[in-house]
Amino acid sequence: MILSIESSCDDSSIAITQIETNKLIYHKKISQELQHSVYGGVVPELAARLHVEALPKILQECKVYFPKLKAIAVTNAPGLSVTLMEGVTMAKALSISLDLPLIAVNHLKGHIYSLFIEKQSLLPMTVLLVSGGHTQIIEANSLKDMNIIATTIDDSFGESFDKVAKMLGLGYPGGPIVQEKAMNGDDSRFDFPVPLRQSPRIEFSYSGLKNAVRLEIERQIQKEGGLIEQDICDICASFQKTAAAHILQKTKKYFKQNAPKHFSIVGGASANIYLRTQIENLCNQYGASLSLSQLQYCSDNAAMIGRVAVEQYKIDDFVNVDEIDIQSRVKDFK
Ligand code: KG4
Ligand code: ZN
Repeated sequence: MILSIESSCDDSSIAITQIETNKLIYHKKISQELQHSVYGGVVPELAARLHVEALPKILQECKVYFPKLKAIAVTNAPGLSVTLMEGVTMAKALSISLDLPLIAVNHLKGHIYSLFIEKQSLLPMTVLLVSGGHTQIIEANSLKDMNIIATTIDDSFGESFDKVAKMLGLGYPGGPIVQEKAMNGDDSRFDFPVPLRQSPRIEFSYSGLKNAVRLEIERQIQKEGGLIEQDICDICASFQKTAAAHILQKTKKYFKQNAPKHFSIVGGASANIYLRTQIENLCNQYGASLSLSQLQYCSDNAAMIGRVAVEQYKIDDFVNVDEIDIQSRVKDFK
């Protein structure tokens, strides 16, 4: 079995995965959403401190599996440096004290392998990764051959939901709250511009849309003296429609040029039902299969890290405890 640790942002999570069968033997995640909610976003130092409390608590429950462990895995990039450090420190300590090899896992690969938890992997496929930190189209050919085809030039899809929620005083994380409000809203009331509509490039941008929403909120407050519940729902619905339209427009461009046979959506924001439906229609239109992670594995978790770790273990992809590095950003998957 492999014990895997995830602490790249605001979720403390540990998983134990059986190497032969990919079976998830143990999985626990302690989310910090409530603690960050008052700030409208993740506060890195607070997140790190909460990992220091949560990770040892979870580890305690894993002790019975220690004799069966063959390796320790940990997310080392990308993410918040101060929070990655907590998981990596614990992984190094376990690797030394239990005399087990160490596996460094890329968090983005983790999101991709969330599709294969307790399953065989099915690559190659093209992946749309939408999370709080990333909006990317990735050609995932194999574990060691993944190419980022498109990325965002500023904010990410999930982050824009967080920002809109913050502007409306709805709390954090914004994705699920905005999605819920949008269900009761009129998505044609506000005409927000679809980002990079005229650009032939396949890339993403959310800072302009975020700004357009901010200006509209200010305009409504000036006109009406405040926002009523229906205004909030209509803003959320109009924003969500535009945010998804941007992804859809660029993904369609990619489909036209590359005609992928297998497509998937992963990452925390892949839980968005509106986006899922739109991409499903696109895949049907182009005859591509669509894979989705189970909802419980869309957001950050150690089960997905464990699933990548199994693949890395099988090819002896280990790292020396003195050489494991922490990277807040990664340019590619190599
Ligand atoms: O993958 P994840 O847990 O963390 C990162 O690696 O960033 O993704 C979290 C992000 C947050 O920005 C959250 O607001 C967004 O995913 N999210 C959603 C939804 N559920 C979570 N965004 C849009 N719609 C949702 N239903
Ligand atoms: Zn993530």
